[in-house]
Amino acid sequence: MSYVTVDNIHQSYDGRPILERVSLGVEEGDFISIVGASGCGKSTFLRLLLAQEQPTRGATRIDGRPPAREPGQERGIVFQRYSVFLHMTVRENLIVAESFQASRWGVFFGAARRNAAKRADAVLERIGLAHMADAYPAALSGGMQQRLAIAQALAARPRVLLLDEPFGALDPGTRVSIHDFLLEMQREAGMTVFMVTHDLQEGFKLGDRVLVFDKVRWDPHEPEAYGATVTYDLDARQGGNPPPHLAGEILEYKES
Ligand SMILES: Nc1ncnc2c1ncn2[C@@H]1O[C@H](COP(=O)(O)OP(=O)(O)OP(=O)(O)O)[C@@H](O)[C@H]1O
Ligand SMILES: [Mg+2]
Repeated sequence: MSYVTVDNIHQSYDGRPILERVSLGVEEGDFISIVGASGCGKSTFLRLLLAQEQPTRGATRIDGRPPAREPGQERGIVFQRYSVFLHMTVRENLIVAESFQASRWGVFFGAARRNAAKRADAVLERIGLAHMADAYPAALSGGMQQRLAIAQALAARPRVLLLDEPFGALDPGTRVSIHDFLLEMQREAGMTVFMVTHDLQEGFKLGDRVLVFDKVRWDPHEPEAYGATVTYDLDARQGGNPPPHLAGEILEYKES
């Protein structure tokens, strides 16, 4: 059995289908990119994996079990709108995240804390935030907060990392360096990653597989009658570029 299995999931809100017949098996350590039109249910799919909500039908399993209701160490997440602890400095945000991993809730003391602070500073150097280590998140730009949120999720070394458009606020240069950082951490920790992105190139660059969510059934008189499912499951292990017809298809969608 796959590490993450999604078995015939349906999700409706107030009788309106959003997702239908979504089935999937994902091996441990795989990086899954998810693309699709706005509003097609990508964030909903991540919430189901996170067990923040229950599907109308079907089930998900992580390592053979239904996902725990509390994310904790098993799953980490970076939401579309990033969240960091506002009352802690940038450095403290990373230290506390690492202490979650060690299942020592709360803060390290003594030598353990000094070592965690050293690791935090190395990460801050890596993501270009060393000069902000003692600042509070309110003093950071959107892109900086986003980098901190990504580093924080990675510091906890979750088994499954869920990323919902994590790079939206980053300029192209910063994006590339954060891509490298994420891939390095993912490989080192053998993390399984699900990442929603609107950037097809990015999805192919980072992902081992690219899933396209779309509606297979469409009634022009009743556009909300059907939900979306996985219409393409593409091998992106060689990196490379999306098939041209697909790029067109998703772009068209984005503009509509
Ligand atoms: N809790 C909820 N109750 C009712 N409707 C919801 C709920 N959550 C999501 N929806 C609806 O479900 C649909 C899918 O939303 P979702 O946020 O999953 O889309 P998305 O693919 O992530 O879109 P985007 O690319 O814009 O982030 C939308 O029409 C949204 O309004
Ligand atoms: Mg979304």
